[in-house]
Amino acid sequence: MFNVTKKILVLPGDGIGPEIVSEAVKVLEVAKQKFKLDVALDNALVGGAAFDEFGSPLPEVTMEKARACDAILLGAVGGPKWDALEDREMRPEKGLLGLRSGLELFANFRPAILYPQLADASTLKPEVVSGLDILIVRELTGGIYFGKPRGIRTLENGEREGYNTYVYNETEIRRIAKVAFESAQKRGKKLCSIDKANVLEVTVLWREIMEEVSKDYPDVELSHMYVDNAAMQLVRAPKQFDVVVTGNMFGDILSDTAAMLTGSIGMLPSASLDTNNKGMYEPCHGSAPDIAGQGIANPLATILSVAMMLRYSLNEVVAADAIEKAVSDVLDKGLRTGDIFSDGMTKVSTSQMGEAVVAALQEAS
Ligand code: IPM
Ligand code: MG
Repeated sequence: MFNVTKKILVLPGDGIGPEIVSEAVKVLEVAKQKFKLDVALDNALVGGAAFDEFGSPLPEVTMEKARACDAILLGAVGGPKWDALEDREMRPEKGLLGLRSGLELFANFRPAILYPQLADASTLKPEVVSGLDILIVRELTGGIYFGKPRGIRTLENGEREGYNTYVYNETEIRRIAKVAFESAQKRGKKLCSIDKANVLEVTVLWREIMEEVSKDYPDVELSHMYVDNAAMQLVRAPKQFDVVVTGNMFGDILSDTAAMLTGSIGMLPSASLDTNNKGMYEPCHGSAPDIAGQGIANPLATILSVAMMLRYSLNEVVAADAIEKAVSDVLDKGLRTGDIFSDGMTKVSTSQMGEAVVAALQEAS
């Protein structure tokens, strides 16, 4: 069998994106040497950085490279510099959403795992979060994020009205359901589907399809929860969850909540996959313009996203395990960026954290 070099496209983006991505790339380069990975890296612009250079948050050259590669590592997009843009299609976020929908990356995995070393970093009591290991499966290319019609219109009386459409068809629901059930089969065999079926018809259908698909997965226990209750349960007793599946907007909101259970959103990686496991990997956090350029951002979510990339898109499980272990080792040594800092620990910068993970990875047997 002959190997084909896997192409990885690196999209640093805006704000803290370039700082955290460069640390993650260092880790990837070391993994490449150590585990003899046959990968080639390329770069492109997305978001505000791409708008400044090409007049579009998702220029055709970036989209072409994105189509041609096997996996994408993305930092973050957006910032106040572009918030005032009149044309909403030119906003940095449109670059990210365009990649997600253009590549049909419909399945978004956001694992919220509490590293035992960080039990004190969470704002929740250690006993509530210790041992936490949940997986949020978020539908990523449909729902209210993409539904049409959408816009802001002026009514006859001169008043303006904003509107969006929350829509899911059966095919979209069924394919995310299957992915979620399969994930649950590989884990604790519990799947909780989150909806607002007491109010919204679209989620009445969502619930119906979840039930229908569950018949193919008799070993997985399916439950349903309304999103308001789910938000409460996530902070009340998060360990009741194993795999959670939900739509695009609810998933966006609930994954930020889940992130805080782990101590910091700076720890949460994500994978967004198409039906062939081609994927885009990015931290769940945003571009944090308030701290950009200061060298204090936490690169671990992006480094852990590299591990997810190796595991899901490149099938390099040993290298993925080694990176996750290196992150854990660095936490064991007491190194903390500001967002996960607590008394008695050693506060480090973005690059010090990246270099510590590189060193731990190099040392690993
Ligand atoms: C996320 C982010 C994005 C989203 C933004 C930046 C468009 O919040 O990945 O969770 O809403 O999906
Ligand atoms: Mg979000």
